[in-house]
Amino acid sequence: MVEVDRKTFLATIPAGALAAMSHEDKAEELEHYMEEELDKKIAARRGGADGEAGSIITLDELEEQEARSPRGTGRLFQPREDEFPPLPDKPTLLDFFKLRFAPANHVLQSATHALRTGQPERTVFACLMHDVVLNLIKVDHGWWGAQLVEPYVDERVSWGIRYHAPLRFYPDDEYGYEYPEMYNRIFGHDYVPEPYIKEAYEFARNHRWYGEARLITVNDTYAFQDGMDVDINEFTDIIGRQFKQPKEGLGYDNSPVAHMWRTIAFPNRPL
Ligand SMILES: [Fe+2]
Ligand SMILES: [Fe+2]
Repeated sequence: MVEVDRKTFLATIPAGALAAMSHEDKAEELEHYMEEELDKKIAARRGGADGEAGSIITLDELEEQEARSPRGTGRLFQPREDEFPPLPDKPTLLDFFKLRFAPANHVLQSATHALRTGQPERTVFACLMHDVVLNLIKVDHGWWGAQLVEPYVDERVSWGIRYHAPLRFYPDDEYGYEYPEMYNRIFGHDYVPEPYIKEAYEFARNHRWYGEARLITVNDTYAFQDGMDVDINEFTDIIGRQFKQPKEGLGYDNSPVAHMWRTIAFPNRPL
């Protein structure tokens, strides 16, 4: 498990910014910090063989820079030293995983937990996709993440991705989901999600598809394991069954979200 040291984590937040952050901002920041720490640990253990993770400027280096991007900026839009590898002309979801989302340890581990515990294939796939949008944008990532895949997946998959974000803050004994102790340790016991988060939770809690989102939050808690490497190729068949890959390639199928895939494909385009 990736351990979060309170001091080290808080030191990554610029001076003065902490006071201005809402509780929701802090929780988001913590989750993204944990994902980045996980990728760094696994990349270090592989001896730098994983070039994708190594190319990202570390949080320490970011701290040293005078200006930094807004914290909601996706990983692909943060300062980096290398060029993005080109995608094929008709890129598939697998291409995006290998060339844009990698190393993607957190989502791979989360899907693996769902698979090993015999959850529905739909849930395994939802877990695989639940946080990939963090590469594009971090703000309200449940909503963005759902939208990104909506035209290509079972409606229950995108629904689950949308509501996993608000559900993270609310325990459910029936599913064995506890309020993350980490949030208490880092932010104290007075954490209160913003009203729109609470409303989204209440809506989801009373919805017949509640379990779709709840299971994502459950698998999420098992997906910060240092020492667990998963290859995206293990999910090729599941992706084939669960994702309606457009024949024109992602970004070129004229769907309502094609521009989002093009943005991930070409983060350097100025306009
Ligand atoms: Fe998430
Ligand atoms: Fe997650």
